[in-house]
Amino acid sequence: MRIGVAKEIKPQEYRVALTPAGARELVQAGHDVVVEARAGVGSAFPDEAFERAGATIGSVDDVWTEADLLLKVKEPIAAEYPRLREGLTLFTYLHIAADEPLTRALVDSGITAIAYETVETDRGALPLLAPMSEIAGRLSAQAGADHLEKPKGGRGILLGGVAGVAPARVLVIGGGMVGYNAAVIALGMGAQVTILERSVDRMRFLEQILSGRVQLLMSSALQLEEAIKDADLTIGAVLIPGALAPKLVTREMLTTMKESSVFVDVAIDQGGCAETSRPTTHDDPVYTVEGVIHYCVANMPGAVPITSTRALTNVTLPYIEQLAELGTVAAVQANPELARGVNVIGGKVTYEAVCEAHGMPYTPLTAALAAGVA
Ligand SMILES: NC(=O)c1ccc[n+]([C@@H]2O[C@H](COP(=O)([O-])OP(=O)(O)OC[C@H]3O[C@@H](n4cnc5c(N)ncnc54)[C@H](O)[C@@H]3O)[C@@H](O)[C@H]2O)c1
Repeated sequence: MRIGVAKEIKPQEYRVALTPAGARELVQAGHDVVVEARAGVGSAFPDEAFERAGATIGSVDDVWTEADLLLKVKEPIAAEYPRLREGLTLFTYLHIAADEPLTRALVDSGITAIAYETVETDRGALPLLAPMSEIAGRLSAQAGADHLEKPKGGRGILLGGVAGVAPARVLVIGGGMVGYNAAVIALGMGAQVTILERSVDRMRFLEQILSGRVQLLMSSALQLEEAIKDADLTIGAVLIPGALAPKLVTREMLTTMKESSVFVDVAIDQGGCAETSRPTTHDDPVYTVEGVIHYCVANMPGAVPITSTRALTNVTLPYIEQLAELGTVAAVQANPELARGVNVIGGKVTYEAVCEAHGMPYTPLTAALAAGVA
């Protein structure tokens, strides 16, 4: 199979969808890999590294027109829509339930589009989203520590304190993938950490793996009101799958918080878990409401492309190998996890939530394949 790796052209996106190590595996398996010139530079992979791995370097036209399988990180932006075409399988983060123009462009083009974020195991886990949650969680503690410094506008407290001086208090709302990783880094920096969680099973698990080093409390409005008053850094990390984040932190609660404390709302990509959250960018990450500094960057992993690219390709490669070896149709028939990733095929939308979001007709994947659309 001919596998293309496109350079990301979305502003502030430095990741690339394949590492030289991944390219080497695919080339060894007998596939042709063509990487767009300078695609890996933002992640510290020069073109020569891909060439040494056996890939060829091509132009944007080479990559898009010659590939059978095109790998990207972010969804195509409008400038890329004319490049979508029948006969091509696109494997990337898509998030099309929130993007009607892209959904229509994918449908009109006849392309097969498989979304990283909807690849799902039988147990409901999202293996291609998890590494980004790990990274965002870890970054949230770092970003919080940074913005707590006085020159950044923060309270001027060191997360770990020093001998004889108390550490900062960190409150993590939601103890899932983001929350656990936020807690690990905050603990490592020496902070005193509390996690509010709703699932008792999850709290039991966290207690075991964190060896009792964090305070674990059942999440409720009352508990949050109590805990948030004492926090120097609050991290929002809740998720209700498939829904907007619940607005747990009210504007009124902010008025009880410490002046110039920091609130990092990682859940901002699902609308945020505070009434006062709105998305920000790495260029201008914070704003202040009621004296509380809000950090609400919607694509936090984009700040660390060297780590994010490797973490992403570690989890995508087995699926890429399967798509390359079997071809798209046989691969999605063989692997239900990949099948759940298919959002659009042969002009049909095969992901129900996307159809609901845009009022478009839904075609189950099996029906689309039976009709021979691919
Ligand atoms: N901003 C970014 O760059 C970025 C990057 C990655 C993930 N995220 C977002 O971070 C959020 C968390 O992701 P995750 O992977 O950790 O999800 P997850 O499913 O692993 O964890 C969410 C946790 O929240 C808990 N929860 C739900 N309602 C709660 C409540 N009312 N109080 C306390 N806990 C509650 C759940 O029990 C679960 O343990 C998601 O919105 C995700 O999209 C953002």
